[in-house]
Amino acid sequence: MRYELTKDLETGNIFIDDEHRQLLKAVNDLLDACDKGEGRDSVQKTLFFLTNYVKNHFANEERLQQKSSYPNYTSHKAFHDKYRQDLEGMAAKLNPQNISVGDLTALNHQIGILVSHIRTEDKKLGQFLQKNK
Ligand SMILES: [Fe+2]
Repeated sequence: MRYELTKDLETGNIFIDDEHRQLLKAVNDLLDACDKGEGRDSVQKTLFFLTNYVKNHFANEERLQQKSSYPNYTSHKAFHDKYRQDLEGMAAKLNPQNISVGDLTALNHQIGILVSHIRTEDKKLGQFLQKNK
């Protein structure tokens, strides 16, 4: 299965949606690697991408929220902070010489959390930004 920015994942904000597309592309690359039996090799690459991506993308979202006085800023940022921390912890623990199926599962789990955040919280943010243009 490949990820696509389907309607349920669209926030309606072109900047946010564009960045989400980049994320889904990285996830699809990982899934392709898994199909080819190269999932373990891709774990480090994807985790490295994701850690950097999250840093920039979350900062961009937070800036938009502050600029528009988004009422859920505090809770949204709390999620971002925790997620950033969890990913960094994962990256720090990863042993590139010995990547396990467990690492791949943990990465998949993190991706799932982020996609469901997009579907719920980012979507709410998108709706708010639309209304308060
Ligand atoms: Fe977010």
